[in-house]
Amino acid sequence: MGFGAPHRHFHRTDSTNERAKVLALAGAPGGLVVTADEQTAGRGRRGNEWFAPPGSCLLYSGLLRPFSAERAPLLPLAVPVAVCEAAESVAPVRCRLKWPNDVWVDERKVAGVLVEARPDEGWAVIGVGVNVAIPRGDFPPELRDTATSLLPTEGEDGVPPGGAPGVRRALELLNESLGRWVAASGDEVLAAFRARDALCGRRISWQDGEGVAEEIDDRGHLVVKRADGERIVLGAGEVHLAVKR
Ligand code: BTN
Repeated sequence: MGFGAPHRHFHRTDSTNERAKVLALAGAPGGLVVTADEQTAGRGRRGNEWFAPPGSCLLYSGLLRPFSAERAPLLPLAVPVAVCEAAESVAPVRCRLKWPNDVWVDERKVAGVLVEARPDEGWAVIGVGVNVAIPRGDFPPELRDTATSLLPTEGEDGVPPGGAPGVRRALELLNESLGRWVAASGDEVLAAFRARDALCGRRISWQDGEGVAEEIDDRGHLVVKRADGERIVLGAGEVHLAVKR
């Protein structure tokens, strides 16, 4: 399926995911994309707020419809693979993935994914935030060591009216790559994700424990080996992972 038609762009809105959900409930077709220059209530995973200075980021929500429960487990892995491909065409970067769906450049987060699915109603909203051209000094102090941007600028000239040029290019490329990856087989998604996986072999911790990440299993879960030798299987919805550096 294709993404990008229809396309609703907001100069400022609460959350593109929220706008896409409202449009989905009103019967919008699959392929709808909602974007914004600025969000006042951008949503991240686990109830976090999503930081994005106006005009410097791709703030994107695509409506996948039809969508069924069988496709649900691997969709959160297919989307970041699509984001990696789009990002690598926008900038000279190599993207890797921090399971379940953070996109990293040089071990710093450059994009995040928030899928909000209603399989019983036959649709899912695919939310993607990509830091395209955030001036280095514009990251808040708490994100400076862990976040980055595809085209980091020094910000002397500010963001031009209508947004940074890389943002429009990122939108076009994401529409294309997302269309391909939501249609890919489970095996293709898993192989592509594993090829970019940044965690396996590394020490990680989560709310209830720590261990060494071993593999992404065929259901898209992360298998971790604890110090006592026990293997734990983590599901994407449950955990906040920290990587030992
Ligand atoms: C994460 O926590 O890593 C996921 C972040 C997802 C943010 C994007 S920005 C566009 C879309 N609209 C939202 O409110 N959230 C997603």
